[in-house]
Amino acid sequence: MTQPDWLARWREGRIGFHRATPHPALVRHWSRLALPASGQVLVPLCGKSEDMRWLAARGHPVLGIELSPLALEQFVAEGDAPATRYRRGDFACVRQGRVELWCGDFFHFRGEPATALAGFYDRAALIALPSPARQRYAHHLAQLLLPGAQGLLVTLTHAEGDAGPPFSVTEAEVERLLAPNFELELCETGRAEDGLQEQVWQLTRRGPARQAVAG
Ligand SMILES: C[S@@+](CC[C@H](N)C(=O)[O-])C[C@H]1O[C@@H](n2cnc3c(N)ncnc32)[C@H](O)[C@@H]1O
Repeated sequence: MTQPDWLARWREGRIGFHRATPHPALVRHWSRLALPASGQVLVPLCGKSEDMRWLAARGHPVLGIELSPLALEQFVAEGDAPATRYRRGDFACVRQGRVELWCGDFFHFRGEPATALAGFYDRAALIALPSPARQRYAHHLAQLLLPGAQGLLVTLTHAEGDAGPPFSVTEAEVERLLAPNFELELCETGRAEDGLQEQVWQLTRRGPARQAVAG
């Protein structure tokens, strides 16, 4: 699925992935992460997810990155606080309460030098991407985070081969893509509400490899 396809899905309202309520895995597992409430949380490929409001209600400044301007506008319209609009480079941004949304391509997002991201939350981001883009995504996410940053990742597996989105991402693939830069812990595996097999992962960004000390 290409970026114009995603934009068309938002225009045509084909957003079956959107949930009206926070994702149960987020609610069940977020407290496992040792993140201060004041720590900023990155939400890549965020759509207009209610999960961002849930995180903000816990005190986190939230930074969502999303391709579709319609998603951002719908998120703001469904909230009840005033919104402020501004630009950051190529990104058109909007802030509502503790949630800041940047409209543009996640792969062009370089982070804000002044603010370290404490954590991230990925539900339906990695699994929205086809295989070569998943490799890029895993690398890009790691580049945005400092050692110690933590996150929650929700993945799905299904028997439809390469069909998607959502794409089936096996435990072996999660480990191949992410273990070089993250410590991984599989928190839960089970059947999701839609009948697909769902996995919930806790990730911690690794520090630089220890240098061998000579002598
Ligand atoms: C399956 S949806 C998931 C949205 C959200 N995470 C949720 O749980 O509802 C994937 C989203 O990623 C957006 N997207 C796709 N490619 C993107 C990219 N390269 N940069 C930013 N957003 C992208 C799509 O527009 C879509 O809203």
